[in-house]
Amino acid sequence: MQENVIPHNFSVDREMRKSIKGHGSFLLWFTGLSGSGKSTIANAVEKALVDKGIHTYILDGDNVRKGLNNNLTFSPEDRKENIRRIAEVANLMVDAGLVTLAAFVSPYEKDRENIKNILGADNYVEIFVNTPIEECERRDVKGLYAKARAGEIKDFTGVNAPYEAPQSPDVEIDTTKVTVEESVATIIAYIENKLNTDE
Ligand code: ADX
Repeated sequence: MQENVIPHNFSVDREMRKSIKGHGSFLLWFTGLSGSGKSTIANAVEKALVDKGIHTYILDGDNVRKGLNNNLTFSPEDRKENIRRIAEVANLMVDAGLVTLAAFVSPYEKDRENIKNILGADNYVEIFVNTPIEECERRDVKGLYAKARAGEIKDFTGVNAPYEAPQSPDVEIDTTKVTVEESVATIIAYIENKLNTDE
């Protein structure tokens, strides 16, 4: 089927959308354990960007899994498909001119590599929210670690499924050492150039 699908060349491109918005577009990808603080930091970064007049959109694991990806489990194959779909959606959003934020556990190195391939390295910023599992488990905001320890959830990342830590993330944050405000400042400083001079 694929060979009979021929993309159309549209006359409005990313550069034209960028010139309307007045800022670059790219993807901020937050990876880390459940309860590490990905969504909290992504939310605060989005707020800071909007305060600067930047157009954003945020994709989050718990929300996307209730909609677009509600047919997927937490098996390695389904996590791969989860991440692939989100990367494709994010790619459209970046093409539309949005600074896109995505907060997903995304535990497998090769799945994160695939995001970078779909977006292109220049459009991908990897943020590793490296909160130790002991702290995520102590917080247990959603009560999921307790359930996983009790054997009620299978394939739970950090308990009975692996988390492959990024080897060279663009930004690394340990929420036991820095505040949300400090994390936001670090991330905003890192992307300042991309906001102004993206491509
Ligand atoms: S990912 O691994 O495919 O990237 P995703 O970020 O979409 O995961 O979803 C993770 C969220 O789903 C967690 O924050 C947690 O609330 C919930 N969840 C439910 N079951 C699991 C599980 N087995 N492993 C990890 N997270 C789970």
